Amino acid sequence: MTDRKSGRLSEGDRNALFAHVARRRAGAVPSAAARREAPLPKLPGEATDFTTLPGFKEIRTQQSFAAVIGLESPFFRVHEKRAGAETLIGNRTYTNFSSYDYLGLNGHPEVSAAAQAAIERYGTSTSASRLVAGERPAHRDLERGLAELYSAEDCVVMVSGHATNVGVIGQILGPKDLIVYGELIHNSVVVGAQLSGATRRSFPHNDLDALDGLLAAQRRQHARTLIVVEGLYSMDGDWPDLARVIEIKQRHGAWLMVDDAHGLGVLGRRGHGIHEETGVDPRDVDIWMGTLSKTLAGAGGYLAGSAALIEYVKVSVGAFVYSVGLSPPVAAASFAALQVMLREPDRVARLRENGETFLESAKRHGLDTGTSRGRAISPVIVAESLKAAMLSAKLAERGVNVMPILHPAVPERLARLRFFITADHTREQIEEAVAATAEEAGGLSSTADVLRSFAQSLNQ
Ligand SMILES: Cc1ncc(COP(=O)(O)O)c(C=O)c1O
Repeated sequence: MTDRKSGRLSEGDRNALFAHVARRRAGAVPSAAARREAPLPKLPGEATDFTTLPGFKEIRTQQSFAAVIGLESPFFRVHEKRAGAETLIGNRTYTNFSSYDYLGLNGHPEVSAAAQAAIERYGTSTSASRLVAGERPAHRDLERGLAELYSAEDCVVMVSGHATNVGVIGQILGPKDLIVYGELIHNSVVVGAQLSGATRRSFPHNDLDALDGLLAAQRRQHARTLIVVEGLYSMDGDWPDLARVIEIKQRHGAWLMVDDAHGLGVLGRRGHGIHEETGVDPRDVDIWMGTLSKTLAGAGGYLAGSAALIEYVKVSVGAFVYSVGLSPPVAAASFAALQVMLREPDRVARLRENGETFLESAKRHGLDTGTSRGRAISPVIVAESLKAAMLSAKLAERGVNVMPILHPAVPERLARLRFFITADHTREQIEEAVAATAEEAGGLSSTADVLRSFAQSLNQ
């Protein structure tokens, strides 16, 4: 608007300014004060009312119904000590099947000591994004350790596993691209796909013929294509035929991302994950994703892959660039946990034995464990959300802490209890929990019966 050298208004701008002032004087342009005072059209009440958000009424209805039939919420229980194979809730000790700590490394002396040493030296926070606040040695130690696990060129860690998936998928794909994932994929992948604006397609659980068919029909209509599968599926405890997924992605010219959040520490003889379990070369997967919250006694997400991918992520993914770096004690703890995992494959072997014990025992008792392959995660499917919630409550009364997974997290017909089994559970704890589950499941009323007796009680 001003002449750069003289700092004066140009002739044209001066004329425009005079015309504006003249119009303002004549009352043609309302002043800011007049605009503030003028009445605005009324908005409907729900525009500012949080209780009108989608799903809010259903949540309240479910809570009221649960209260009427005396069902206590199993969620947000307060644990008074480290929640491992056992936990303390309200002065009572429970056998715990609701924590991921697969190899029992949360609270391991070496892991806690690493966190304490990092606090002593660096405090508890990185205090800004690593781009500006810089790195701490534990960030790079952890990243190098994880990159090695996948024979990858590089790795990057971020403060949240969920945000890692959302951020990277949302960034590397755009509206001309295609993303294809298994129907049971984690929410963070779906949210990342939505953010990217790419065309989204899902294929039935582990049905690789369907994946192949989908790509044959649609791949050529898109610029880039990303296939996403989980290593160990977090709701069902099974895994895809990774060698075949790789063959499909190579044939169709797609990227492959494996979210092995639950496979690390669990799959493969040494717990390296699904690539070790299935004997594939990890370099044939374009993007390895995992979390620090399952086996590595921390919190956060990581990506491992080519140097170009990681370089790009570190300057373009908002969840890294515009978010604080991983807290130093968390990075140090997860790095220490990784060292223990690599040094003590016995833990992985114990976990495998425990997972198999659970599955065999559940099958012997006639429980429906779906497609679980008996490694660390086993559902017990009861097929109705209310039944799953009631079964969880009955087991809590018997000293077993296990969470129900309800609709909409899974389809109603697949509502379940989900057991996380760890290396620290004893055979007795597992056998007792399974026997209690079978006994209580046998005596459960159906949702229809509960509703019928509820209606009758209202009529009395
Ligand atoms: C398969 C999978 N991916 C990603 C995440 C997100 O990880 P985080 O809980 O560390 O944010 C989870 C969390 O449970 C998960 O199960």
